[in-house]
Amino acid sequence: YASLTSNMPIVDIHTHVYPPKYMELLRSRSTVPYVRTFPDAPNSARLIILPDEDDPSTPSISRGRPIGSEYYDIKEKIAFMDQHKIDKSVISLANPWLDFLPADEASEAAQQINNDINNQCSQYPGRLYFFGTLPLSAAPSAITAEIERLTTLPYARGVIMGTSGLGQGLDDKNLDPIYATLEKHHQLIFLHPHYGLPSSVYGPRASEYGHVLPLALGFPLETTIAVTRMLLSGVWDRFTKLNVLLAHSGGTLPFLAGRIESCILHDGYLKTHDKTQNRRHVWDVLKSNVFLDAVVYSEVGLGAALEASGSDRLLFGTDHPFFPPLEQDTKVWHSVQANYDAIAKTFETEDEKAKNVLGGNAVRILRLDS
Ligand code: URA
Ligand code: ZN
Repeated sequence: YASLTSNMPIVDIHTHVYPPKYMELLRSRSTVPYVRTFPDAPNSARLIILPDEDDPSTPSISRGRPIGSEYYDIKEKIAFMDQHKIDKSVISLANPWLDFLPADEASEAAQQINNDINNQCSQYPGRLYFFGTLPLSAAPSAITAEIERLTTLPYARGVIMGTSGLGQGLDDKNLDPIYATLEKHHQLIFLHPHYGLPSSVYGPRASEYGHVLPLALGFPLETTIAVTRMLLSGVWDRFTKLNVLLAHSGGTLPFLAGRIESCILHDGYLKTHDKTQNRRHVWDVLKSNVFLDAVVYSEVGLGAALEASGSDRLLFGTDHPFFPPLEQDTKVWHSVQANYDAIAKTFETEDEKAKNVLGGNAVRILRLDS
């Protein structure tokens, strides 16, 4: 890729950090999400964030995942970028963000964490930018105030959000002032899953399969459902310029968009309640409001994303520091190489498009050259 992109940087737009303030918060807690060591392994801290990870029947040695400095030391991020030929990264707080905080703590925590991450970026000017975190449990006026404040932080380029919104999902009318403020300031939402699906869908033997079912299927379906609910509630009919960057190539949205359209068209309830008049179609939203990351690990999924939104709306990502190689001493991460390979195969004869997916689109869309 070095020669291919000699005049175009490689940009990673899906890459996470837990800055010092957030680590402090995680270490101070004893319910999910938290970081702690267990008596049987006092020297290795574990990060426990997912709803089902805290099951006491899971031995503490395999609960959650090991957490080391790659989660919070910004030097490690830069070393990872150098190792994988990534010129610029747009870092974001990892899940579950501030979703769990009481209302009266959320605003201050968001300000501290956003300042923390902005400071991390300022240590490597031109290499790091970030998606900010919102105090979603606070009052809407506090949320919009933080969006406004983020526009004054030099390295902020949008916000990362989960699917819970103010507690009732992203199809909640009470989010309108937040969507309006984001739209007004041209700040995109990086929409990222965390909650997955109810664990009952994974069946009684789920614990025998590690994290595979919730991560491979729960995450993408959660994203797909959240975006479809936004569409059905008319978010993009009211906010025609609101942009979202969907994690994991849109979950399953590109693959299921036709089925979603067909189900809308054939729904008697929507028709009798006049909800299908003048609505924007999912295909239109996919090509006008949606950006998709290229974190899907295969040219099959990437092909669907490409068909749905176009090569000028696809953006390379890694999901670092998640999905590290399990073998010791592997320098190049399989997860990263899989995403590079999928882009190389998909755009085998189209260098210009490959460069745009690898970085050009991110520079243009997120204004990384200013
Ligand atoms: N697991 C998580 O909890 N978050 C990610 O972003 C990726 C994997
Ligand atoms: Zn992620």
